Amino acid sequence: MKVNTLLQHQKHDFFKFDRKISQLAVLQRIELLSPSLKKVRKFFGRYIFTKFISRYLINPKKVSLKYYHLMSKEILTVSAFLKEKNNILSIGSGIGGLELLILKKYHDTMVHFIEKNYISKKVRYGWDKSNYEAYNSLNSLNFFLLSNGIDKNKFKIFDCDKSKYPNQKFDLIISLYSLDYHYDFNIYKEYLKKVSTKETIFIFDTIRSDYFTKIFKNVSILKDDNQTVHKSKRIACKIFIDE
Ligand SMILES: C[S@@+](CC[C@H](N)C(=O)[O-])C[C@H]1O[C@@H](n2cnc3c(N)ncnc32)[C@H](O)[C@@H]1O
Repeated sequence: MKVNTLLQHQKHDFFKFDRKISQLAVLQRIELLSPSLKKVRKFFGRYIFTKFISRYLINPKKVSLKYYHLMSKEILTVSAFLKEKNNILSIGSGIGGLELLILKKYHDTMVHFIEKNYISKKVRYGWDKSNYEAYNSLNSLNFFLLSNGIDKNKFKIFDCDKSKYPNQKFDLIISLYSLDYHYDFNIYKEYLKKVSTKETIFIFDTIRSDYFTKIFKNVSILKDDNQTVHKSKRIACKIFIDE
C-alpha cells in the first residue's frame, strides 16, 4: 500500500517523531528513504546526504509511518522470544522503535540500551572494522521513548563509548542490523558472556551465520535477507561454548 493511502487510513498508527528523530531513523534504516531521495543521495554523496538531505528533505510524518510499519514487521521476527518480565539488552537499537513496541506490549519488561552518541560526518554502511560509524543521539532515543508514552523506569540508556555498561543477567539480547552486521561480534563477546546465562537468547543479524555454530551451542535462523546487498541472516543463539 502507498504511504499516502496509509496516511489516510491509519492516522493513529504511527510514532510521534520530530525532524531530528526522523533524520536518525532515515540514517539508520535507509529503506525509509523514498526512491527519489535515494537518487538525490547518490548524486550528492554521503556528506551532503548526512548533513542536509537526511534532515531537511524528508517528510517526518511519512518517515514515522514507514518506520512504524517496519518495526511492526520486525517485532514479528522476534515475537517467539518475548514474554512478560523479560530483562532485555538492546545493542545498537537506533531510535528504538522495536523496543518501544515491545515495552508497549509487555508492561513488565525492562530494556537496557547500549548505543553510540554521535552521527558520523559521512555515514557509511557495511562492515566497519574500527567501529567508528554511528548514527544516533542518546538524548533523542530518550525523548523518543518518553514522548511515545514509555515510563522512564522501564529503560536505561548507556553510551557504548563510555566504560560503564549494565552489569546484570539478561533474558534476551537483541541487536538488529548492528552487532556483527556493522562491526565484529567479538567487540562485545567477553561482556556478553558476563551478562548472560544458559537461558539467555541472543538475536542478531549477521552475514556469517556458520561462524556462530562455533561460538554457541544452539543457533537457529529466524530470517534470511537474501534480497538485500549484504545477504544477512537473523539468528537466535543460546549457550556460549566454553573455550
Ligand atoms: C543500521 S543501525 C540499526 C538500528 C536499529 N537496530 C534498527 O534495526 O533500525 C545500526 C546502529 O548501531 C549503532 N552502533 C554502531 N556501533 C555500535 C556499538 N559498538 N554499540 C552499540 N551500537 C552501535 C549505530 O549508532 C546505529 O544506531
